[in-house]
Amino acid sequence: MITPLIAANWKMNKTVGESVRFAQQLVAEFAEFTEREIVIAPPFTALYPVAQVLQESPIHLSAQNVHWNEKGAYTGEISPGMLVDIGCEYVIIGHSERRTLFGEKDDDINRKISTALTFDVTPIFCIGETLDERIAHKTFDTANRQIKEGLNNIPSDDIKRIVIAYEPVWAIGTGKTATAEQAEEVHRYIRELIVDSFGEDTGKNVRIIYGGSVNGDNIGGLMTQPDINGALVGGASLDVESFRNIIKY
Ligand code: 13P
Repeated sequence: MITPLIAANWKMNKTVGESVRFAQQLVAEFAEFTEREIVIAPPFTALYPVAQVLQESPIHLSAQNVHWNEKGAYTGEISPGMLVDIGCEYVIIGHSERRTLFGEKDDDINRKISTALTFDVTPIFCIGETLDERIAHKTFDTANRQIKEGLNNIPSDDIKRIVIAYEPVWAIGTGKTATAEQAEEVHRYIRELIVDSFGEDTGKNVRIIYGGSVNGDNIGGLMTQPDINGALVGGASLDVESFRNIIKY
């Protein structure tokens, strides 16, 4: 049985003070709660102070991006070693906003996943089709390409450590969630792809979470699906009350 993983992606929101207060409230409420694995991804400026709040708590810290090199002349970038240094255990890689707004390619994403794993930071590897691709019946082709290229040359043993987040681009920030059945169909496809490429044990155990307008009302239905192991939440994770409702679905 895979423990459901509920992750908050705050994107470019929250000051240090707001992030710390949110983290303190979560710790106060969920310090003893083991039914879910809870992850929060504040903006870079708040990572270190939030790490201090989360110390000794079961809540995990994630970054929203990372560079694929260990160090060097890469103005504005953050390396995986820097994330480890402040106690960051997860990193979101390949989010659709990074792909579409900042030009990240499958190959860049593959390099980021590879370096993150080397540093023992767990990648939350995002994939998902655009609306045009869905209309053109390319949902599975897109998932296939993004998974194959994103995980190219990653050893089988490492795949189990990765979290795959299926986030259909048309459902992000739009209020249009995929139905539980639409999401499950793609999750099942992804799991079968991982089984075929990396073996039965890896495929059965890899965590595949859903993202795209998740809220307290739709999370329950999504989580009844056998291949949905959690959620990556944007807008509804910005408010403690609504994030708490999602965690406690
Ligand atoms: P929303 O929950 O705001 O649709 O965002 C989803 C997302 O992009 C999480 O990474």
